[in-house]
Order: sequence, then structure tokens, then C-alpha cells
Amino acid sequence: MSDPAWVHSPMMRAVRREPVEWTPVWLMRQAGRYLPEYRRLRHSTPFLDLCKNPDLCARIMLETVERLGVDAAIVFSDLLLILEPMGMRLEYAGGGGPVLGNPLRMAAEVDRLLELESVGALEFVMEAVGKTRAGLNPSLPLVGFAGAPFTLAAYAIEGGSSRDYRLAKRLMYSDTGAWDALMGRLARAVTLYLNAQIDAGAQLVQLFDSWAGCLGPDDYRRYVLPHSRSVIEGLRPDVPAIHFATGNPALLPLLGEAFGKKKRPAVVGVDWRIRLDDAWRAIGHDRAIQGNLDPAVLLTDPSEIRRRVKEILRQAAGRPGHVFNLGHGVLPQTPPENVVALVEAVHELS
Ligand code: CP3
Repeated sequence: MSDPAWVHSPMMRAVRREPVEWTPVWLMRQAGRYLPEYRRLRHSTPFLDLCKNPDLCARIMLETVERLGVDAAIVFSDLLLILEPMGMRLEYAGGGGPVLGNPLRMAAEVDRLLELESVGALEFVMEAVGKTRAGLNPSLPLVGFAGAPFTLAAYAIEGGSSRDYRLAKRLMYSDTGAWDALMGRLARAVTLYLNAQIDAGAQLVQLFDSWAGCLGPDDYRRYVLPHSRSVIEGLRPDVPAIHFATGNPALLPLLGEAFGKKKRPAVVGVDWRIRLDDAWRAIGHDRAIQGNLDPAVLLTDPSEIRRRVKEILRQAAGRPGHVFNLGHGVLPQTPPENVVALVEAVHELS
């Protein structure tokens, strides 16, 4: 039997650091509130209901991929859904960020977070993966994803978004035993969840540690790295992974270290707070890199976008292993035609 078409796609080739015809590009939050068709759908359907409807999830992502002309799809879902079957009450309160109704504030409460014994309660995500894969052009890979243990722990402890993560840090710094127990439980859950997404049809996975940048490198190494490494090392063999964090470029070599010693294709996701060439040097050229346009550039116009794309591609210097992306998710205020202009600019200029 011959390989499925996505095996030789620019995205999968770049992830394996093979030469490509054009630099692949996809965007975090490529389907979302900046799109009028998404807003229309959301008008009648609460976000959680949307996430639990595999047909709608598949439709949103497939329409978006078609409209934008990107080189990969990501499952339409959310980072925090995994916390529900682990015993947390999750709500997306009107327009604001997510809220967890019963946060784990003290070390003694950590045991309220249940071990995820199976992904049965998250079957709707696997169905969304399967339906998205089935409807997607076979030459495009599908990215599965999960939150990294630290970002999930921070949400579970803070109960929502936070400016300084002081409650999470208090627990982490004051009770290492409770912290490691919590992180271990999350790491096992995330490993199970990502492997289930791979079984359901994802070709690669991205681990989002969106909040890890609030830590310095020594604390990241001590309190976070072992758990993220255990997730990545527990993934099905040979499946490529993207490890992404924002906010602190000093963490980049450590995000790379989390891949351990296995030969799995490794991609480190980088935000805009560091130049792409400096980031790649820090990560090591034996790993692929994803990034790193500031999402705010998409609020400007196609000529500025082109200029900034050219600059990032110049820093990538034609070296195999660059996946173009934003440094973080598309902002809700972004004009959709600017996103299309970005994708066209990357394809044309690379
Ligand atoms: O990238 C995609 O298009 C796929 C879908 C996706 C969503 N969330 C949909 C979503 C992905 C990959 C995520 C990941 C996610 N969720 C992260 C990691 C990425 C990052 O941004 O750092 C985080 C931290 C979350 C948690 C989360 N979910 C927040 C903070 C919010 C509210 C703020 C916001 O940006 O809207 C959400 C809600 C959410 N997740 C929406 C979407 C489309 C908006 C919900 C709505 O329609 O109101």
C-alpha cells in the first residue's frame, strides 16, 4: 500500500526537517471569533455545546482550512475540556475567558482532581478528530492537541485566567509532594488523551504550555519539565510533536529538552518575543521550529504583513524545518482577508 498523501505534505516534511517546495503555514486559533461564519454559529450555540458536537467541530475547521488555504488543520476543541471528566466544573461565561467553578486552591484539595482512567467521557473529541480527518484533503495533516500539565494545573488552581499565577505558584513552591502528584495525574491524562487523538486520526500533536512563560528556567526545569517530558515520551512512537509555550524565550532550550532522547520529529513553537534566528539557535538546528509572527501584525494591512513575513523567512534562511505560524492565536479583531493575505505571502515568498 502506498503512503497516505499527507506523509509527503510540506507540513509533515518540514516537521521532519526535509526540504519543502514552500514553507507550510497554519495558525493557532485559525477557526474562531475573527470569522463571521464562526460568530454566526456561536450566536445560536454556546461554546461548550459546539465543542461537544463533532459534526459542527469538523465543519468549522474544514470550512476554515478551505477558506484560508493553510497547510494543516487543527482539531476544533478546547484545552480545558479534559478537566471536566477529571471532576472540574467548566464554564465559558459570556465572552470572557473560561471559568472553573471548583478550583483546587490548597494542597489538601489536589486529590479532588480525579485520575482520568479512560477517554470515554471525551469520545466527542475523538469523533471530531475522525470526522475532520475524513473530510480533510488527504494531502493535509491534522494536528491533535492538549494543554501541557503546567497550563492545565494553573487553570485548575487559579480557576480561570490570571495575571501572575500566584495561587498556582504558591502551591508549587510550598508543597512539592502535592504539586508532583497533581502534575503526574495531569501528565498521565494528557498522554492518554493525545494517544487517543492519534488513534482517531491525528497525524501529529501540539502540546500547548501557554502559561509556562510566567516561570524562570530553573523553576521550569524543576517543577514542569519532567512532567511535560513524560507526556512526550509516552506518545505513540514516531508521531511528531510540537511543544509550544509563550512569554519567556529563556525556556526555549528546555522545551526542546522535553523531547528526551527518542528520535521522534521534534518541533518547538516560538512566540514573537525573540527573533526566529536567535530562537532556532537556542533550540538547536537539529529540531524544527514553528512561528513566530506577532498576531497583532494581522491588524495592519497586506503590505505590512508581507514585509514581516519576508523578514521571518529571511531569518529561517531556507533551512529545512520551519513551519510558519503566529507566535500565539489569531486575535478576535483580525480582518479575515489579512489572514488570507498572510497565507498567500508565506506561500509566494518561500
Ligand atoms: O486553533 C484553533 O482554531 C482550534 C481550536 C482551539 C480553541 N482553543 C478554540 C477556542 C485551540 C487549539 C484552543 C486552545 C486553547 N484554549 C489554549 C491554548 C492556546 C492559547 O491560546 O494559548 C488556551 C489557553 C485555551 C483556553 C481558552 N479557551 C481561553 C483562554 C478562551 C477564552 C479566550 C479566547 O481566546 O476566546 C477559550 C475559548 C475558546 N477556545 C474559543 C475558541 C474558538 C472562543 C470561544 C467563543 O466562541 O467564545
